[in-house]
Amino acid sequence: MLYVKLGGSLITYKKEGMFSIKENILRNISRELRSFLRDRIFLTHGAGSFGHVPVIKHNLQNGLRKGSKLGASEVMVRVSELNSIVSKIMLEESIPVVPFSARSVFMRRRGKISCNLPFIEYLIDHDFVPLTHGDFIPDEELGTYILSADEIPIYLAPLGLKKVIFLTDVPGVLDEEGNLIKELRRNFLPKLREDDFDVTGAMRGKLSHAFKLASMGIEVIIAGYLNNGDLRRAFEGGWGTRVII
Ligand SMILES: Nc1ncnc2c1ncn2[C@@H]1O[C@H](COP(=O)(O)OP(=O)(O)O)[C@@H](O)[C@H]1O
Ligand SMILES: [Mg+2]
Repeated sequence: MLYVKLGGSLITYKKEGMFSIKENILRNISRELRSFLRDRIFLTHGAGSFGHVPVIKHNLQNGLRKGSKLGASEVMVRVSELNSIVSKIMLEESIPVVPFSARSVFMRRRGKISCNLPFIEYLIDHDFVPLTHGDFIPDEELGTYILSADEIPIYLAPLGLKKVIFLTDVPGVLDEEGNLIKELRRNFLPKLREDDFDVTGAMRGKLSHAFKLASMGIEVIIAGYLNNGDLRRAFEGGWGTRVII
């Protein structure tokens, strides 16, 4: 199974804080995805501005505190709205997506995340493309936990996950001079700037999940979608950063 995540910064105006999408990029990626339909695909997108902006506004980075219910609700309504917009574009481009929110299949208890895998297995066995997103999931202690679409693939390993492609708004992981690092090992990490717009740690957070996936024997590529064909090039190993342990 192939996991593809469309970065929130790639498909929304996250850094600008605007609740709008980059439709052309989404359409180009959708068209490219058609050539992957013979394989098993699991598709996700980040929350982008639709999630990160209200999370920061309502101070929900570390869970649900008293009185933040409406704020939490706003986050979930907005990310579902984004999921619906992305799903409609995918459908128009003939991708048989089944949209659902991560909060309806994942939950967290005592720091451990569980997932309704039979549901996902059903979709994949019937040649649907599951389409979920970074979301708040129920958490016994915190109330809500921010499950990033960078973290989701870790829990899909039992479904025979072989490869993960994180598409984002930069060519891949960049070194201090801004050059693309083709192969990245944990002990050769470049300087990673924190990002004020990303509540899940931007590239640093992405890499912590990427290394975990690599240690499980899963191939991980972090790549920009800057031109048509970049998804195929990343899939074939000719574009982006390969994360290895
Ligand atoms: N060394 C680095 N290489 C690449 N990106 C970096 C680096 N350090 C910080 N970043 C930031 O990480 C961002 C990508 O993470 P993020 O915004 O979370 O993307 P996504 O929305 O795809 O999850 C880049 O746009 C960049 O601002
Ligand atoms: Mg991110």
